[in-house]
This record gives sequence, C-alpha cells and structure tokens, in this order.
Amino acid sequence: MKYWNKRLQKMTEYIPGEQPDNLNEFIKLNTNENPFPPSPAVLDALQKACNGDLRRYPNPNAQMVRELFAKKNSIAADNVFVANGSDEIFTLLFRGFIEPDGIAAFPYPSYALYYTMAEANGIAYDKITLDDNFDIPFDEFLKKKYNLVIIANPNNPTGKGVPIDQIKKFCSKFIGLLVVDEAYVDFYNETALPLIKEFDNIVITRSFSKSYSLAGLRVGLAIAQKDIIHGFIKLKDSYNVDRIAQAGAYAALLDDKGFKYSISMVRNNKEYLEESLEELGFQNVPSKANFVFTKHPNIDSKTIYEKLKENKILVRYFAGPIQSEYIRITVGTMMEIKKLIKVLSEIIPD
Ligand SMILES: Cc1ncc(COP(=O)(O)O)c(C=O)c1O
Repeated sequence: MKYWNKRLQKMTEYIPGEQPDNLNEFIKLNTNENPFPPSPAVLDALQKACNGDLRRYPNPNAQMVRELFAKKNSIAADNVFVANGSDEIFTLLFRGFIEPDGIAAFPYPSYALYYTMAEANGIAYDKITLDDNFDIPFDEFLKKKYNLVIIANPNNPTGKGVPIDQIKKFCSKFIGLLVVDEAYVDFYNETALPLIKEFDNIVITRSFSKSYSLAGLRVGLAIAQKDIIHGFIKLKDSYNVDRIAQAGAYAALLDDKGFKYSISMVRNNKEYLEESLEELGFQNVPSKANFVFTKHPNIDSKTIYEKLKENKILVRYFAGPIQSEYIRITVGTMMEIKKLIKVLSEIIPD
C-alpha cells in the first residue's frame, strides 16, 4: 500500500458479509436482504429503463424520486437527497460535516461502517457501549461535545428499536448533528422523520436495499432540513444515482401494494423464525427488523456459524466484545427457515 497515506494503511477495513458468486448453492441469511424479489411492477420499470436513453447521463439529483418521496411524506423535494445506497450518505457525512478536529460518537455494537468511515476520514470517535438490554444510553452521548452521533433505529446487529420520544428528547439537548439510520424502519415503522420539521440537527437515512428488495440497485435517501440537504448535493459525485436505479426506486415508491405485501410476508416469516429458534432453546434479542440476533446456552456462536456454513447456510457472525456471543440471522423464505431450523436442531447438543 506504499502509494496510500499512513491513515489508510493503518485503518481497519470494513468487511461486508459474504456474497458468494454461486448464489443458488447457498441459503443466504447473512446480509439482511429481503428474501422476496422486487415486485413485477418494479422489475418491469427496470427493464423498460434499459433503452437507448442510457447513452445520456441521468438526472443529477434523481429529481423524480425526490419529488415522489417528498409528496408521499408531506415534505418538500428540497428536504430529500437521493444517494447511491445509504452507505454513500455516511461517506459524505464524514467528508463534509465534521472539521478535522471534531469528534463523533456511535453506539457499540452497531453498523461497523460508521467506525470505518470515520477512520477513513481521520475523524476521532468514541464507541459507546449499549446497556445490558442493548438499549442506547443516551446520557452518555451528552457527556462530551460530540459533533456527530449516528444511531441505527432499529439497530444492526441487535434489531432493537428506540421509541421516537427518546430521540426527540435527545435532539432537543444535543448540540451536534444526529443521524438516525432507518435502513430497517419499514418492517415495524417507528420513523423519526416528522422530527425534521422541528429540529435542524437531525438527518434521517433510508435504504431501498431491505424493505424494497433492491440491494443490488444501490439507492438510499437522506431526509433533513434544506440546508443540510444542500450540503449533500454539493459534496456528491455529479451523477451519483444511475438511470436504472432512479427508475427502479421511482417504481418501488409507486407500488404501495407490492411493498405492503412483501413487508407482511417478511413479518410473518420473522415470527415463525423467532418461535422456532425459541423452541430450540435460543435466546433471541427482541427485534424490530428483518433479522434476529440470537445465542444458544449450549453451544458457542462461532461454532454454529461454521457448522451452518458447512451446510451451505450463511448467517452473520461478528468478532469483538459482546457481539461475538451471538449470531445474526436474516429472515428468509419459509423454505429457507425450515431448512435452517432442521440443520440447527442437528447441531445443538442436548
Ligand atoms: C444499519 C444499516 N445501515 C445502512 C446499511 C446499508 O444500506 P445501503 O444498502 O442502502 O447502503 C446497512 C446494510 O446492512 C445497515 O445494516
């Protein structure tokens, strides 16, 4: 890495969950994708977008997506930024919002990309450990003058949600910028979005990767007061969201029926997964997302992860304090869950 700067040479790399090429050989329950495909209306819009217009650049701000999301949520298009996956929003946040001597804070365990992006940009940060119930100790985030706090609600990998009145209370006391990452909010819907009208220090992020089954397309949103959105627009690449992604996201926002159906299927399967795991003696953390963070008293989680992998079932195991006691299992189709439970019942010692 001799041509890269020292910071980059030293930084911890973000390791995404495994994405095997031979997808059909695996039951893939490791990166919280939706097990159901995009709706026929969305697939149709995507196919139609594959035409000669691809020789032209896309709309630089994905204006149609902005406007449709804004209309559906009774806000202005200027309150919405369309990103190349919500991950792009985190990249831009660190690039633009914090001065080099600023300091950020994130809960731990949480989405590891926050720590990686802070490091990549040379921003100091504190990891604030969740309490024993995996809840966010908000008072700890007020003990220093943090410039930026990012929380995921519901949190990944725990799946726990924070009530909106707690976020509101925190926002009114906090002097920095609070980012609420709502990548999983659609599954159980407790959004902090209305708070953008009241507070100028809150950004909500959304993703099309989970509830809309479009992880392969890379679209995310940031919602905030106009001034903050303007910052994202100044910082982004000129054409950050391609034509096909814009067409897919627009069609997905239009297709309420397909969306609601997919969510209800995931919720139904999640209940089945949780109950089946409990019957096998697993201890589940209560989840408001499309995954379950769980452990078993008779066998360590790394062994479960490895044995499942031998059986071509991928779940997520994270090294590190607290989280290494657990595995995170994404809700799959009914057939996938049944296979998982069968293999688990053979792995778990009596
Ligand atoms: C909490 C959280 N935020 C954001 C993302 C990434 O979302 P996107 O695919 O929109 O970049 C993930 C993906 O796993 C996530 O778990």
